[in-house]
Amino acid sequence: MNIIMLGAPGAGKGTFSAYLENKYQVPHIATGDIFRENIRNNTELGAKAKSYMDKGELVPDELVVSLVVDRLAKDDCKKGYILDGFPRTMPQAEALSAELERTGSKIDYALNIDCPDDFIVERMSGRRVCPKCGASYHLVNVPPKTEGICDECGSELIQRKDDAPETVANRLKVYHTETQPLIDYYREQGVLEDVDGTIGRDNVFAVLDKLLG
Ligand code: AP5
Ligand code: MG
Repeated sequence: MNIIMLGAPGAGKGTFSAYLENKYQVPHIATGDIFRENIRNNTELGAKAKSYMDKGELVPDELVVSLVVDRLAKDDCKKGYILDGFPRTMPQAEALSAELERTGSKIDYALNIDCPDDFIVERMSGRRVCPKCGASYHLVNVPPKTEGICDECGSELIQRKDDAPETVANRLKVYHTETQPLIDYYREQGVLEDVDGTIGRDNVFAVLDKLLG
């Protein structure tokens, strides 16, 4: 099963991808996470990506597309994958379509996690993430068992740099101009499913269970 997660920053793409990864045992490929890992490891790609990410801008398509195409060629993607945060622009979507056609593959579901902007701003201010394993929490909605500590690996939780309110505003603006048109692109392909992202995490899990079987 090949799945794309669409949705505004903070809609819950990462949270629901992790759930599906666990349930279906297919890799969760999050371009944002790959860039953050590169930043932590001080790679050349990380240095390039950081200058865009810190401002809430998109990393240029040419840096993203080749990275994802290489990743999809790995053996573990043969049984399916979840793409989180890619594609994010029309050129990225078209590059993915071309690659899928070349390899005789297809997208089964594009899940549009739908969340209004005012929800997003509140979400981002409360989000805390684990810098080690990537698990995501929310101070009020999804608190860790011990305050400030990751349930999964025991590391100290941090706030993402791009979750500062002015950066969030820019990320939302970029989302509406660059990424939102992809909803119609996948709707026209007959694979889009709208998922209400405002109904609480466990309720969304139940919706996904029903949808994907
Ligand atoms: P990326 O890391 O992909 O960030 P994003 O799309 O802005 O999305 P987030 O990860 O912030 O949110 P999310 O939807 O995963 O929500 P989460 O599950 O954490 O990208 C970062 C940057 O990298 C981009 O700005 C760009 O610069 C660059 N980049 C990445 N991919 C790129 C690409 N393809 N092209 C170009 N540039 C690229 O949830 C948010 C919070 O809400 C959490 O605290 C969670 O616990 C809580 N929550 C979620 N759902 C619920 C719910 N239903 N009920 C209650 N709480 C919930
Ligand atoms: Mg995410």
